Amino acid sequence: MKKICVIGTGYVGLASGVCLAEIGHSVICVDNNKEKIDQLKKVICPIYEPGLEKLMAKNKKRLYFTTDIKDAVLKSDIIFIAVHTPTREDGETDLQFVENVSKEIALVIDKYKVIVSKSTMPVKTGQKIKEIISKFCKKGVEFDVVSNPEFLKEGTAIDDFLRPDRIVIGVESKKAEKIMRSIYSPIKAPLIFTSIESAEIIKHSCNAFLATKISFINTIANICEKNNANVEEVALAMGLDKRIGKHFLKAGIGFGGSCFPKDVSAFINVAEKSGYDFDLLREVKKINKQQRYNFIETVKDKILGFKNKKIAVLGLSFKPDTDDMREAPSIDIISSFLDSGAEVRVFDPVAIENAKKIFKDKIYYAKDIYDVANGCDVLIILTEWQEFYKMNLKRIKKLLKKPIIIDGRNIFEPKKMEKLGFKYYSIGR
Ligand code: UGA
Repeated sequence: MKKICVIGTGYVGLASGVCLAEIGHSVICVDNNKEKIDQLKKVICPIYEPGLEKLMAKNKKRLYFTTDIKDAVLKSDIIFIAVHTPTREDGETDLQFVENVSKEIALVIDKYKVIVSKSTMPVKTGQKIKEIISKFCKKGVEFDVVSNPEFLKEGTAIDDFLRPDRIVIGVESKKAEKIMRSIYSPIKAPLIFTSIESAEIIKHSCNAFLATKISFINTIANICEKNNANVEEVALAMGLDKRIGKHFLKAGIGFGGSCFPKDVSAFINVAEKSGYDFDLLREVKKINKQQRYNFIETVKDKILGFKNKKIAVLGLSFKPDTDDMREAPSIDIISSFLDSGAEVRVFDPVAIENAKKIFKDKIYYAKDIYDVANGCDVLIILTEWQEFYKMNLKRIKKLLKKPIIIDGRNIFEPKKMEKLGFKYYSIGR
């Protein structure tokens, strides 16, 4: 059992902390948000993440929460930094939280510690952390900096952490390598040891590659649509080629969330600073935005303009199984409907509270799938929540003013929808 502290209780920090406790370590989670820490102490999970609260309860004897960073650092041998690394407008990563925390750690440590960066950070941040700690720590105190990027996805965070494809660890000393090896020994996955810089680039490369795959398939979807082909059939056959792989080939209204959009911009910036123009990623970003606008145009076209129209929206979060609306396509799409004079009714199984912070009283928050459809000119689907697959389509048809469904996530079979008497439009088929 190792004594670990995790600084930052956002998605990555909290899920990592809880999972590190689950594999047997003693973990102190630190955050400067007192309200959040008070909630966590009462075993209330502040984010919607399936299974996380249960796992917190299960491990509560090994899991501590505090706002006192000094105390947590002193009591721990390994310190994970999992604070936010937001991307500024110009694509540059804002490292102020990482820098502040590094300084705070430096001022406290009095013996050897391993400081691990868990958040996504641009290449060379590890070196920056090292410089800050060297500058501010007591003379003679030894430490190691490690880059251990996290690959968990929102909605499946626990499974991704406990059963990962691989664990990437950038280290500079055998001592740190040994400690990291023992932390992860209960997890059965290949451990990939690299330099700190490689580990940092691996994380950005993975997110950039996955985002590229999505923009690629969305472009193929647009070509399919114009040529009477079906992108689902194309993606299935493409994905069976092991060199391509079947994941992340789902066409739709594009990617959102707190990671892909910010990491793609940050990686373009990293490339730029290295004297390289990552045009390919710029295009990935452009295609992703355009996908939302194409969808808006389709809706406009199918309902003959927005003025005085009533639009039912199903799904607000950037993907299912999360209440996260950061960079969700639904924000741009609904805003555009509102700006064009439409009335909007929305339903999402968990993201309504977050939506209220964005749209306030400009839209109607429905209590279920059927309430949202009531009297609308069209029903549009923006997130593929499981419960939407099971909706009673006959009932929906009766409730809608016109039987039009425009599906941004391809959840229904076009033929079946036609049979049911819907005018059904989806992406790339
Ligand atoms: C992503 C990565 O998948 C994780 O590996 C990584 O750890 C995380 O970012 C991070 O950097 O912290 P996440 O943002 O939770 O995870 O969500 P994803 O499941 O990757 O989905 C991202 C977006 O892509 C969603 O909007 C989703 O709807 C979209 N998507 C995904 C598609 O449009 N098509 C697909 O085939 C797959």
